[in-house]
Amino acid sequence: NSNQVILQEISKLSTPEEQWEPYAWFTHMRENEPIQYDAEQDVWSVFSYDAVKKVLFDHELFSNKKQRSLIPIPHEVDNRSNVNLVDPPEHRKRRALLAQAFTPRSLKDWEPRIQEIIDELIADMEGDTVVDLVDKLAVPLPVTVIADLLGVPSSDREKIKAWSDILFLPYNLDAFTDIEQQKGQAMQEFAQYLYPIVVSKRADPADDIISDLIRAELEGEKLSDQEIVMSAIGLLGAGNETTTTLLANLFYCMLFDRPGVYEELRANESLIPKLVEEVLRFRFGATIDRKVAQDTDIFGPQMKAGQVVVAWIGAGNRDEAHFEHADTFDIHRPGKNQHLTFGAGPHFCLGAPLARLEANMALSAFVKRFSAIAPVEDFNVSDHLTVSITGQSLKSFPVRVSR
Ligand code: HEM
Repeated sequence: NSNQVILQEISKLSTPEEQWEPYAWFTHMRENEPIQYDAEQDVWSVFSYDAVKKVLFDHELFSNKKQRSLIPIPHEVDNRSNVNLVDPPEHRKRRALLAQAFTPRSLKDWEPRIQEIIDELIADMEGDTVVDLVDKLAVPLPVTVIADLLGVPSSDREKIKAWSDILFLPYNLDAFTDIEQQKGQAMQEFAQYLYPIVVSKRADPADDIISDLIRAELEGEKLSDQEIVMSAIGLLGAGNETTTTLLANLFYCMLFDRPGVYEELRANESLIPKLVEEVLRFRFGATIDRKVAQDTDIFGPQMKAGQVVVAWIGAGNRDEAHFEHADTFDIHRPGKNQHLTFGAGPHFCLGAPLARLEANMALSAFVKRFSAIAPVEDFNVSDHLTVSITGQSLKSFPVRVSR
């Protein structure tokens, strides 16, 4: 499928371990080949902070109206309401539509419900001395929160999680057709599940995002059921795996990148938001792509209209030119939120405040409940990795906890 850009083929990070720790390769690329061209796929890659930021910001040179991408571009369905696959000025209307859907439940109103979900998850750990933090926290928290926000029964969270896992599987050449087929099926099942929910909310709207989308209009027209289903899948997808990765990585960083920081947080809880930002900078291998909209030599080499450019956000976040001692995990960095993990410019992540809130609240509950955390004996990260959109993420993460 020539519409599909395969990241693994560009990076040559072949083992799960290299994909989990791509940072040495990122440094190599920033220093030796900051603007890379992959002739096989006709794809550019940029690795420096400034170039990544430029690609994300400059929608006139680098467009979101993609024909080829890292993420499959849906063609059969009507994309009229898709917030991500469009440029300003049209983008503003679609974005306003979703932003509007997020507002009635301002995050403050939503906090008690998130707290309740976190408290239940922590109560479920009662009596355990070793807790699998992926299974018990990082997976269930985001999917329950986003299901609640949308107005989808959170009791269905396992089904929802299974579909979004498949939709977020990265492609590789060896299993291309198989993955494509799995995704097609997951998409179909997910849509069939959501469709009757949308239909019944049309008759009987409630206080949730699906109902808001039913009430909303785009250019004077209501969204169709199909468009609402696709928007809901988009939000479930965007809000799920990403936040799971953040939650799992929070604990990984505390245990392996900066042992001792947990005690520091317990002594001073106001450091929690700083830790969350540093994890987002330090350990999040995200990539975003754009279509080159017009011929340009802005980065030196001649890029041609229609080519794909990949912005390696995780590499930009470790750029020494922008962050002093970039490869050191340090929650006391001066300056705020300069990492690019939520993107930058017009498409900046709509869910960033929600993801931050979930991470801050989860960690705050955790430090109140547990006096110490420690790695389990013989922990070997290789045994716990699984392919994900960010390269590799933790599929399980047993951690020793003390009360
Ligand atoms: C966009 C990352 C959580 C909804 C983005 C973009 C990034 C990103 C990099 C920019 C895409 C682009 O430039 O094309 C993340 C990360 C998250 C997270 C790292 C968690 C740690 C969430 C959550 C939601 C969400 C919880 C929703 C509930 C969206 C939406 C967009 C978006 C709707 C599209 C915005 C647009 O195109 O205008 N996210 N996200 N995200 N995110 Fe997130």
